[in-house]
Amino acid sequence: MVDIHSHIVYGVDDGAQTIEDSLAMLRMAAECGTTDIVATPHSDNKYTYYPELIAERIAELQAAMGDRIRIHRGCDFHLHFDNIRNCEEDRSRFTINGQRYLMVEFSEINIPKNITLVFHDMLRRDITPVVTHPERNALLMARVNQMVEWVRSGCLMQVTAQSLIGGFGKKAEEAAKKLMRHKLVHFIASDAHDTEFRPPDLRPAWDLVASDYGEKTAELLFNTNPRMTLTGEYIECEDPDDVPVKKSWFRW
Ligand SMILES: [Fe+2]
Repeated sequence: MVDIHSHIVYGVDDGAQTIEDSLAMLRMAAECGTTDIVATPHSDNKYTYYPELIAERIAELQAAMGDRIRIHRGCDFHLHFDNIRNCEEDRSRFTINGQRYLMVEFSEINIPKNITLVFHDMLRRDITPVVTHPERNALLMARVNQMVEWVRSGCLMQVTAQSLIGGFGKKAEEAAKKLMRHKLVHFIASDAHDTEFRPPDLRPAWDLVASDYGEKTAELLFNTNPRMTLTGEYIECEDPDDVPVKKSWFRW
């Protein structure tokens, strides 16, 4: 499996704090069948993203892990003005392996009004936004048809493995399954922060997807699609299903 979302680099965000934390997470990922893991430290108002420092720490961790797992660089990219401007100047600072896929995280309290234009601009510059864990964002889940439009224009979606197995509560689990039904999931990743509460173990979610949606779907979401982000190959995806809009007698 290829895990495209994790906080395994120590001392740069709210994930691993020490090199021992990082190595414990990497050992766990490898033991659970992950061959490649993308380190995606936050770049937001709280944590500054330094690509050179992160690359240095990845090299240190890779040397310690040898050939047990391959580590790649990415970013948990928050949608704020400076980030967007910096990414448009040089996408390789933030994208997975310096290729075209960019992990994009929305705030839980606000969806920028011009976000569709921002996405179109990114796509025009050959950057593919990958919206992270929409199932855990109530504002996004209230706009599923908006996500359908984003996917039709070229964006992709990543769901958190733990959401599918109930680790983030019933609401997130149901939301993840709704996104699966509407063909709005292209990747499943751990978003691991530690070895205990948010571990880099994709196996329980793989088992659930394989039994409920079939092995082929599991292979696509945990392996084939994520692996293509490492090389920057274009990912072809199915047309998602619209969500019927409920008609209301009341006008607000
Ligand atoms: Fe994350």
